Amino acid sequence: PTPTPTPEKLLAFTAVPKSLADVVSVPAGYTATALYALGDSLRAATPAYKNDGSDTDFDNRAGDHHDGMEYYGLSAAGAPLASGAERGLLAMNHEATTDETLSSHFLHVNGGTTSLPRPAAEVDKEVAVHGLSVVEVKKTGSAWATVNDSAFNRRVTPLTDIELAGPVRGNALVVTKYSPTGTKTRGTINNCGTGKSPWGSYLSGEENWAGYFTRSATDNAARGDKSVVSLNRYGRSQGGASRHGWETGGSDDKYARWNLSKIGASTNGSDDYRNELNGMGYIVEMDPYDKTKAIRKRTALGRYAHESAAFSVPAVGQQLAVYMGDDSRNEYIYKFVTTAVWAAADANPADRIATGDKYLDSGKLYVAKLAADGTGQWIELAMSNALIQAYSAYKFADLADVLVNARLAADAVGATKMDRPEWCSVNPANGEIYYTLTNNSNRTVNPSGSSQLAPDSANPRAYTDMKGSSAQNGNPNGHIIRFKEGTGAAAATSFTWDVYLFGAESGADASKINLSNLTADQDFSSPDGLAFSPYTGICWIQTDDGAYTDVTNCMMLAAIPGKVGDGAKSTLNYATAAGGSLAVDTFIGKKPTADTLKRFLVGPVGSEITGISETPDGKTMFINIQHPGENTKLANIGDPSKYTSQWPANAGYGAGKRPRSATIVITKNDGGRIGS
Ligand code: FEO
Ligand code: CA
Ligand code: CA
Ligand code: CA
Repeated sequence: PTPTPTPEKLLAFTAVPKSLADVVSVPAGYTATALYALGDSLRAATPAYKNDGSDTDFDNRAGDHHDGMEYYGLSAAGAPLASGAERGLLAMNHEATTDETLSSHFLHVNGGTTSLPRPAAEVDKEVAVHGLSVVEVKKTGSAWATVNDSAFNRRVTPLTDIELAGPVRGNALVVTKYSPTGTKTRGTINNCGTGKSPWGSYLSGEENWAGYFTRSATDNAARGDKSVVSLNRYGRSQGGASRHGWETGGSDDKYARWNLSKIGASTNGSDDYRNELNGMGYIVEMDPYDKTKAIRKRTALGRYAHESAAFSVPAVGQQLAVYMGDDSRNEYIYKFVTTAVWAAADANPADRIATGDKYLDSGKLYVAKLAADGTGQWIELAMSNALIQAYSAYKFADLADVLVNARLAADAVGATKMDRPEWCSVNPANGEIYYTLTNNSNRTVNPSGSSQLAPDSANPRAYTDMKGSSAQNGNPNGHIIRFKEGTGAAAATSFTWDVYLFGAESGADASKINLSNLTADQDFSSPDGLAFSPYTGICWIQTDDGAYTDVTNCMMLAAIPGKVGDGAKSTLNYATAAGGSLAVDTFIGKKPTADTLKRFLVGPVGSEITGISETPDGKTMFINIQHPGENTKLANIGDPSKYTSQWPANAGYGAGKRPRSATIVITKNDGGRIGS
């Protein structure tokens, strides 16, 4: 959809002050209400959540750590209807669970076990709170509520059968005991950012999946394979403990599969778990309306720590681009360009997954290389690239190998290492692409070791103390970069870029740190979620911060950005340890004003703000409050006075006092559009 002309002034609300209160704060004239929290029942047969650690049956409850989320309209009669604004489905990611020393302590009566082996009953609960959920929501009068036992309600977990689609399907790299033909994977995990395709499906990015697996230090590459190189490049070292120790839950495959070490006699992995890791790390496509349709991992889009998936503005007869980021320190920005060209009839197809097959299984994957002059190139990751053929650190066998090991392929072509690319979104007004670069503790003026990098034009800041001290390590507050495609639009192989905003404290040095001149009504740190409203055109920015949390909880801001190149070139000057100087040219977008950037919401203690979705009339917004109270100690389970947050119980929602991740619904009291 195209944003409709705005009869009302946008960003007319009064900015919400920074806050450390354990509440959700929104502007005067707005109401925010908890709607759907960890453990909420999706089925009539599943009892209400007691929230005391004794609950079970999480396959039929809301999962944990609500993250990316999309709204799908229904007609009054309950049929799929994109414009449906009073009844619909929320599809969302349940990324992770609040944990300490292996255990997800809020899920267990006494906080659970913190040593190996983990009891099967604890593992079963912890696994089941991961994945996706679909829940029906309905407006009655002015109040929204979830619909218990709706036929649409659904859970997808790390045990749900999922098809592999695209070039990796059937490849030797994904042969497992679960799928000896390499055509399926068992479940999805650590689902973070989301996307909504132009054909109405739900896209979910698998992010920090690698940490759930373990591989023995003595299990070397006995098959002569390259899997150790791959394992290391995706952030795992042999012998490293898995995040929760799930592999110790029992001998059943559903536990053993988290241990990658070779246990079978086969030579190809068809009787063991060695390749389980290669089945994770994709964009996953689900039809939120139809649980009979297989869920598919779209391998053509590459395997890395995915966040959101943002489509170019569809143009009939033109190829589509899908923009994506890899959120880890010094990782890359990617785009996938479809082979198929957009057909108008596909906006409302009979079969959304078949339409996904058409657009997402064939195309080209590119990685971004940014130059110091404000231009950039998209470099195709394919066997035809001589740099990929010649790469000495890893010998690629075929396109599937390039896609499974996209990070290694991007290394081979010399792509630009960024300050943790989180969400991206396309401005519907002009097609420009915005990426949050949340922070990077490894950006430093005096790098040592291969993991540290000096500032460059696209990642130009390196100051430890964002109040302006002279220490020059890290970019703790992050920034937002934006691209304008060159000739060829979605299929372009070149672009221009600038930095739309730099996160900063409003009091920080404006010549070195607060480069966007943020005021107290606008200042933020560590942008993460970002999405343009297709209805109002507002750019919503959400934070996941650890640097400014001495002053404020995480937040959401509303923005009306300009365009690439509307600001000025600037030079940052650093002194190096060797007594020299380092000058970094960058391009800073037009500084925001009180009319173009304003804080809209501040969340409860310990929470990240994430998930941006609206009804198509722009009058109801749903967002997620992720992991309130996440710093609560396991030793304090049972003593609510020591929980660092008691939200949403302290807002009158649900039983017990343990904090819970939850979806909230935001409406304007006068019935107007959100952000006006
Ligand atoms: Fe799950 Fe990169 O945030
Ligand atoms: Ca994120
Ligand atoms: Ca984050
Ligand atoms: Ca988080």
